[in-house]
Amino acid sequence: MKFFIDTANLEQIKEAQDMGILDGVTTNPSLMAKEGITGTDNILKHYVDICQIVDGDVSAEVISTDFEGMVREGEALAELHDQIVIKLPMIKDGIKACKYFTDKGIKTNVTLVFSPGQALLAAKAGATYVSPFIGRLDDISTDGLNLISEIRHIYDNYGFETQILAASVRHTMHVIDCAKIGADVMTGPLSSIAGLLKHPLTDIGLEKFLADYKKGN
Ligand code: E4P
Repeated sequence: MKFFIDTANLEQIKEAQDMGILDGVTTNPSLMAKEGITGTDNILKHYVDICQIVDGDVSAEVISTDFEGMVREGEALAELHDQIVIKLPMIKDGIKACKYFTDKGIKTNVTLVFSPGQALLAAKAGATYVSPFIGRLDDISTDGLNLISEIRHIYDNYGFETQILAASVRHTMHVIDCAKIGADVMTGPLSSIAGLLKHPLTDIGLEKFLADYKKGN
């Protein structure tokens, strides 16, 4: 299972990268705005800064909603760095643009996916990644993890190679449940990754081992 971090915060990206377990980064316009990164030039520079920190794929989202605009933006983003993955919205022109970039050998991430049918279309268009948003489904009393199971089932039926990128992960149990279901990738905040470290018995055990070592020295 790949671990992506869902942030535009360079410090948090560095922290996850330093742990040695980071496989990539996802961003979106809201995450950029949260870090105060505004204006096209600053946003493009920030993507390059992120690529210089991590070794893996970095999703960069287009803001156009028409095919021509997505192609124009996506091609400019792809030029920035070879780690850039073009993130496209799950709308008709987004699927068309996904097929266009797939045919050109450029990686894509179809985002804002909330149903199995949408995920099927993304796979048909050859998306590298499909991003079902589990936390946002949970927010409206719908089982986000069930969507991951349904997509896994459909993709396995036909051998689709599109990777299921469980997005809108909010906490450690989402990560563990996605791993059980077989999501290929998860993307979440640093806290959802760092939280996996924690167990009180680990802390108690370590404290005891260190205390016992001191007794003999
Ligand atoms: C995915 O790529 C999105 O950036 C993200 O996971 C959305 O998460 P949120 O629902 O916590 O905003």
